[in-house]
Amino acid sequence: MNHDNYYPFETTPLPYSIDALNPYISEYTLYFHHDKHYKGYVDKLNALLKKSPTMQNVPLEALTKMSDKDVSTNAGGVYNHELYFSSLTPDYKAPSEKMSGLIQNSFGSEKEMWNELVSAGMDLTGSGFVWLGANPNGELEVVVTENQDTPDLDKFSPLLNIDVWEHAYYLDRQNLRRDYLTAVQNIINWENAEKMLNASSDRISG
Ligand SMILES: [Fe+2]
Repeated sequence: MNHDNYYPFETTPLPYSIDALNPYISEYTLYFHHDKHYKGYVDKLNALLKKSPTMQNVPLEALTKMSDKDVSTNAGGVYNHELYFSSLTPDYKAPSEKMSGLIQNSFGSEKEMWNELVSAGMDLTGSGFVWLGANPNGELEVVVTENQDTPDLDKFSPLLNIDVWEHAYYLDRQNLRRDYLTAVQNIINWENAEKMLNASSDRISG
């Protein structure tokens, strides 16, 4: 997330080329997902805030919790997608020793963690996101949110998320959500996840 976090929001460019995630996610899917769906949330959020000057100084994270459902949904659409695109990389590297240790302590093994993430994604009836993040005790947890909701950031520090809306995989895999959730395991950006973890522990200790 590298924009300034306040209105007017800008569409953050993909941190890799449009075809970089082949064969796991095609350029066709990424193009529609980034340039149409995500950009749509940015444009809609800007249009809503243009009419509401009092909300123009509210940071994105707080906008996701506004009682105005239009604002919170579109702010969530921006926040969730920016983390999603940053959660993926064409240059996969396994979790670091520190991250692996945390995964083992929290889930038993990386395999168990993936079982939990995939099950959470499969159990979600409609659209939403599955998240890996840290609770205030520093343990990792899997959380599911519906539509463009975001987790309670006071109780959960996101490290990565996976978009399980059909638009994230339907062009490539039609209804096969499990295949998509299996494929993305090859393109998770564990370095970014660790950066998010370090930033959250700095925030807590600061
Ligand atoms: Fe999406």
